[in-house]
Amino acid sequence: MKKEYLDLASAAKKAKGYAYAPYSRFRVGAALLTDDSQIFTGCNIENSSFGLTICAERVALFHAISHGITKFRAILIISDSNDCTPPCGACRQVISELAGNIDVIMMNEIGKIKIKKLNSLLPFPFTSNSLKHRS
Ligand code: THU
Repeated sequence: MKKEYLDLASAAKKAKGYAYAPYSRFRVGAALLTDDSQIFTGCNIENSSFGLTICAERVALFHAISHGITKFRAILIISDSNDCTPPCGACRQVISELAGNIDVIMMNEIGKIKIKKLNSLLPFPFTSNSLKHRS
């Protein structure tokens, strides 16, 4: 794996340690690699109302966007699962709009890894073009 992806993996692992997941007990960490090689992390943050839970991927993206970053190369996701954790549909939509066709690296902590381009995970996204009215 590329050295910068190894750095992403350790950042995501650390972020997973901050997950607030008392309801599912499923901790997730995400780390985003920016065009200029910075790393922004996120963890899942649950809520007793359940529906207000936010995934680690969106926390990482909003973290970066709120620091003025708009260009990204990859996002890495790590969880407590024995399998690689794919981003949920909502996160795919948000990654697509805010980061485009980046590498999505799905890892677990026992060496499993899958890398997919976002467009292969979300082939026909809703976009700002989809908002055009019939005239
Ligand atoms: N979760 C994430 O943070 N990212 C994913 O890609 C899948 C799901 C979180 C949401 C919730 O806190 C817990 O995992 C169980 O769904």
